[in-house]
Order: sequence, then C-alpha cells, then structure tokens
Amino acid sequence: NARIPMVAGNWKMNFDHIEATAFVQKFAWNLKNAHFNFRRCEVALFPSFTSLRSVQVLVQSDKLKIHYGAQAISVTSQGAFTGDVSADMLAALGCSYVIVGHSERRKYHPEDDADIVDQVRAALADGMQPILCVGESFEERRQGIELDFAVGQVRDVTRDLSDEEASRLIVAYEPVWAIGTGMVATPQSAQDAAHAIREDLKATFNDQVAQTVRILYGGSVTSKNAVELIGQEDVDGFLIGGAALHVDELTTICKQV
Ligand code: G3H
Repeated sequence: NARIPMVAGNWKMNFDHIEATAFVQKFAWNLKNAHFNFRRCEVALFPSFTSLRSVQVLVQSDKLKIHYGAQAISVTSQGAFTGDVSADMLAALGCSYVIVGHSERRKYHPEDDADIVDQVRAALADGMQPILCVGESFEERRQGIELDFAVGQVRDVTRDLSDEEASRLIVAYEPVWAIGTGMVATPQSAQDAAHAIREDLKATFNDQVAQTVRILYGGSVTSKNAVELIGQEDVDGFLIGGAALHVDELTTICKQV
C-alpha cells in the first residue's frame, strides 16, 4: 500500500520541558546516526503542553524531521475555559497532530463521543491531523464483540465528516486491556481490527478515504513485538506509550518499521 507508516510516541504525563529537550536531542542524534529515512517512516512525539514550545524551538533550530503534536485539545476556540488549550494555540506551536479519544481521557475526564467529534473538527479546522483512538475493553473482547465495538467508535465520531475531512484522520486501534499492561494484541487480532475499521471507512466514505487513512496499533508495543505487528497489511504504524519513554528503545522500533 502507499501509506507512509508512522511511529507516534505518546509520553502521557511524563517528562518536564528539560527532560523533553534532552530526549529529543538524543533521539534526533540516534536517528541521524542510523541514517534514518524520514520519507519512509514518519516519526512524531506527543509531549505535555508544557514541553511543546521547547520541542518546537529545538525542531526549528536544528531543522529536525521529527514531528510533534498534543495529547489533548479543547472543543472551544477561546474564552473562559480555565485550563484548556485551543486548536489555534497548538497550531501556533507547530503541532501537526492531536490525539483525541484516548481511553485515558475518556475515562478520567470524561470525554464522550460528542466532545471527541468537536475535538476532531477543531483540529482539522486548524490544519492538524487528529489521531482518533478507539478500542475495546477486556469485557467487550470476552463477549467477542471487539471488532463491532472499535468500528462503532470510529463510526460514531466520523459519521458527519466530509470525505475530505475523513481522509485527514489517523486512527489508532488501542485495545484498552493492552494499554500499559504488557499484554499486546496478537498480530492477527491487530490486523483484524485495522482491516474491519478500514472496510467500514470504505463503506461510510469511499475506497480512496479508506486507503488513505493510516491505522496505527497501540498497546504494549515494544521492539520485541513491533516487527510482527508492522508486517500486517492494515497496520500502518504504532501509537506507543511506555516504550516511547526510552530513547534507545523508541529508536529501535523506528528502525524496525
Ligand atoms: O498512547 C499510547 C497507548 O496508550 C499505549 O500505551 O504502549 O504504554 O501500552 P503503552
């Protein structure tokens, strides 16, 4: 397929701006040393809001080919929303992507589908690509409804998007039971979910949209399981949490993709 794979490192609530700067410097050095081909694989980091400006300055001054984005976005564009960060603010920091619908945000904040739709629209309107996270919990998997569940989550958020808007989405299939647990999905089940999501995008939009949207796998990805996972036809890369906190490990995964 013609999709460029992507390795996305979601740092969650880790690293202050000094640690983030040191990580990016080492990571860029690692990739340069490995003659990493950024045209063959896109690399993106997702620091905390407080580190975004430091990462931007570093990326710009050293002309790094590493992309970055935010872990969350406000549904509103400005005003009296204490603690929120708008799409305009993120775009001004050079963010290319925004993570939306992560299970941790759905659980702890909580954000529902209507909020996630608005977040997707806010990101798209400012030229950023949303990475829409979906995935079943252990209970849905036990019931054998995991594919319908993940496909339904994508459909609920995307149903009112135009074809053009949908084509700018990235989907991350992250089974909740696999996040941070060391229990990775089998390559076949990651493929089955990615394939089901792609087939549904084809039915909802069209084949071109379905072939354009990258579908990442997330959940306990490490350098031990990345090769087999990326070998699956519909798996276009990874959204990585824990392993993205270790610069050499993340470098190894980038080289494997
Ligand atoms: O956003 C990343 C995912 O939640 C995966 O996290 O690699 O620590 O399992 P993990």
